[in-house]
Amino acid sequence: MSITRSTQGRTQQAIALEERYGAHNYHPLPVVLDSGKGVFVWDVEGKRYYDFLSAYSAVNQGHCHPRLVKAMQEQAERMTLTSRAFYNSVLGEYARVVCTTFGYGRMLPMNTGAEAVETALKMARKWGYERKGIAKDRARIVVCEGNFHGRTISIISMSTDPDSQGGFGPFTPGFEVIPYDDLPALEKALDDPEVCAFLVEPIQGERGVYTPADDYIARAIALCKARNVLFIADEIQTGIARTGRMLCSVPDDVTDPAKRPDAVILAKALSGGMYPVSAVLADASIMDVFTPGTHGSTYGGNPMGARLAIEALAIVQDEGLAANAERLGRVFRAEVQKLVDRYDFLTLVRGKGLLNALVIEPRTGPDGTPRTAWELCLLLRDNGLLAKPTHGDIIRFAPPLVITEEQLMECVRIIALSLQQFD
Ligand SMILES: Cc1ncc(COP(=O)(O)O)c(C=O)c1O
Repeated sequence: MSITRSTQGRTQQAIALEERYGAHNYHPLPVVLDSGKGVFVWDVEGKRYYDFLSAYSAVNQGHCHPRLVKAMQEQAERMTLTSRAFYNSVLGEYARVVCTTFGYGRMLPMNTGAEAVETALKMARKWGYERKGIAKDRARIVVCEGNFHGRTISIISMSTDPDSQGGFGPFTPGFEVIPYDDLPALEKALDDPEVCAFLVEPIQGERGVYTPADDYIARAIALCKARNVLFIADEIQTGIARTGRMLCSVPDDVTDPAKRPDAVILAKALSGGMYPVSAVLADASIMDVFTPGTHGSTYGGNPMGARLAIEALAIVQDEGLAANAERLGRVFRAEVQKLVDRYDFLTLVRGKGLLNALVIEPRTGPDGTPRTAWELCLLLRDNGLLAKPTHGDIIRFAPPLVITEEQLMECVRIIALSLQQFD
């Protein structure tokens, strides 16, 4: 009894400390995580959960993968940071691995996703002036409604989410917003000769795994190539096997540069959740607009991040995580579809690979209390599965890609039980 009281006390204490001293820029589900291994996480009271968020798809390789822990320990004892004032013994090999893995000529290393997006925006503008001949300060970048590319001032300048943008102006000019999954709108926007790039997520993760038509990305790439506009894929959430292939925007066997994005932005799972590592990939004809002094980051390309990224990508290949995501994603959607057919408050399940979402109709319970995606996530938590609602009516399901079919089926049973309790 006393043990229970003291561990529950740890939960309350940790939450109270975060609330008291931390900025209130998140609304976490009330659970305090303390350790993780593979698909599981444990709270401070020792309760085990399936992690169905994977830190917004950063932990594709599973929590504390032993190969990543070993790489981190070894590198920590050797060297962690050099800055780019000098060469380091790992960055070159990391650049080679990431370029050959994804089929691009050059890689620019950064740390967070937002920094890599900023890098791609700068690269696109400079390419627009130097290679496309756009007049000074006139370059425009086309983006999509409902986008999420991060939180910096320039990135929120192209957001259409009032929570992301409200109160943070003045904004960075030079963006044009068009509807997502709308090729005629894209075609029209590309008529403007001052457009240098189209930046898009192959699936809009933060919008609620909003999934476009199957041929949208391929056709959008073709439109951009025809108009000499850079197609930039933000694969921060969708990339690195999450949607059943290395990049969501292009099948792994497509090597023709005319059918691939001109630039790809990666982050999150690039380091398997160990440490912030991000990158922009492009061929030399585009990336070489950057020259010494035009861009950089103290930590970008550091030996620790480089070593982790090499290992994180090797794990994805060695453990066949893309194939696992593809196969189990189909199983998951088929199973959840049965639940959607059973309950009228479930609207649909959508997604690709192991990036999926369930859309529910928020309701009021018989006692007048709200029954939204948040309440369903609390039930899932109580039953041993952690997921996070978005926009009040959508729950994203994105487990680590190391999940087995047996584990996935147990999770489907947890979801079914929680829905029964929710009904
Ligand atoms: C598609 C996409 N782009 C960019 C970002 C920003 O990444 P970070 O939070 O590492 O800055 C995210 C984060 O969720 C994302 O999902």
